[in-house]
Amino acid sequence: MALPSINPTTTNSWKKLQEHYNEVKDVHMKDLFADDKNRANEFTIKWDDFYVDFSKNRITTETFKYLLELADDVNLKKAIKSQFSGEIINETEGRAVLHTALRAPKTAEFKVEGKNVMPEVYQVKEKIEGFTNEVVKGERKGYTGKPFTDVVNIGIGGSDLGPAMVVDSLQFYKNHLTTHFVSNVDGDHVNEVIKKLNPETTLFVIVSKTFTTQETLSNANTLKEWFLKSASEDAIAKHFVAVSTNIEKVKGFGIDENNIFPMWDWVGGRFSLWSAVGLTISLAVGYNNFDSLLKGANKMDEHFKNEDFDKNIPVVLALISVWYNNFFGAESEAIIPYSQYLNQFATYLQQGIMESNGKSVDRNGNLINYQTGTIIWGEPGTNSQHAFFQLIHQGTKLIPADFIGFAKSLHGNQDHQDKLTSNFLAQTEALLNGKTKAEVEAEGTSSSIVPFKIFKGNKPTNTIYIEKLSPESLGKLIAMYEHKIFVQGIIWNIFSYDQFGVELGKQLASKILQEFNSSANNEHDSSTNNLLDYYKQIS
Ligand code: F6P
Repeated sequence: MALPSINPTTTNSWKKLQEHYNEVKDVHMKDLFADDKNRANEFTIKWDDFYVDFSKNRITTETFKYLLELADDVNLKKAIKSQFSGEIINETEGRAVLHTALRAPKTAEFKVEGKNVMPEVYQVKEKIEGFTNEVVKGERKGYTGKPFTDVVNIGIGGSDLGPAMVVDSLQFYKNHLTTHFVSNVDGDHVNEVIKKLNPETTLFVIVSKTFTTQETLSNANTLKEWFLKSASEDAIAKHFVAVSTNIEKVKGFGIDENNIFPMWDWVGGRFSLWSAVGLTISLAVGYNNFDSLLKGANKMDEHFKNEDFDKNIPVVLALISVWYNNFFGAESEAIIPYSQYLNQFATYLQQGIMESNGKSVDRNGNLINYQTGTIIWGEPGTNSQHAFFQLIHQGTKLIPADFIGFAKSLHGNQDHQDKLTSNFLAQTEALLNGKTKAEVEAEGTSSSIVPFKIFKGNKPTNTIYIEKLSPESLGKLIAMYEHKIFVQGIIWNIFSYDQFGVELGKQLASKILQEFNSSANNEHDSSTNNLLDYYKQIS
């Protein structure tokens, strides 16, 4: 076995944490801050342009010590080594997990089955660079000789969410190309995009690791048909490119061999934006910015690989999250970026985190009797303050939250930035301290209303404060969460890199699709039968 397979609940540290939890579960963070003037410094990691303050958590020095022991007890060090050295840690699919190779320097060595993959990685990177430059400079032209103005990324899941999130997050750095993302098999999605396109100046990037995904192939075919209404078959070579591991299927779709950007099965879909899956990113912001994104991620990889666990950002965040998930029984975590640019960040992380760690069988094949993957949700502040913060502040649920902020604004409007930052700081302070009965009364609130205005506080947050949103810092941030996912998967003793849970629904959908055009008796439960008949009647 490439990875250790230790049931975390059988470790000494887990038992210590369980006892310790009973002692500290009701302690208020306010008291912890009052008792220790150095608390914020003790629980802050400053690294590069990152300032990570995890002091507003329901932890003591002892908690932190036991959590670090847990990392040792599950053999995290060895697991990290196994991942980076290309061992087959995705055992259920028989694959290595090496998205870290995609962002490593050319001189690095990453071996899969004894072969260094770096020459291939750089061959593809050079192809991305060359292609990007030709399109951006207008040297590569459409079938009527006009330069491209629009790029359509056709993909779903990891072949959509990563590129879509990064392009949106880095829109400040964008060039003249307009990008579109088509993902849903809902035909209204692709048709709304088509309304905005001119076939003469549109480049289509079909992204599918397997090239068998129903949504992506349906959308690609619809766009091809639409394109061929204006252009001839031989124009496809100029307008359609593909990113895939399945070269034969791509050729079968009619794509020119030179227009195929390969990827590898040792890159998981939800960790693939660093590969040619990120071609649309490169086109949108230019190759140099794409490369900076990769370099940022590589810096975080080095930090994760080499730093001691008590100063290791992904490790610390993962441990704290386990503390709430497994001891406090918290079910979900909120991601609140104080940047409108990171509008799609939580959506992106939902796949990364929930597809990876939403598992209930351990690495020994046994059913698990403890909690695994957290539910992830979130929206940017300050919008979210006016939407769901009420529940975080005064609801009955414990929702640990990551507050992500950037000290400098990109457009440099200081007035807005000060207001944004004041909210960013105020919210975590409010969640920490709350408001006591005495404080509410001191405001002159009438006694019948007092209970409604009390805030218990003691709501945990991490503050991830970054100097400025740039391709490099975004790369670091994404990689930080990727490694957090890995650490949690190791602790929970699950396989984080497969996703069999998405298969059953797909299989049933293809069965149901066939039944729409047949008169055969349906063999479903009565609810599904009724719904199917209803659809047949009215569609
Ligand atoms: O939803 C399952 C999944 O396999 C994801 O893991 C993946 O990102 C997505 O489908 C798309 O797959 P592909 O890139 O092969 O089209």
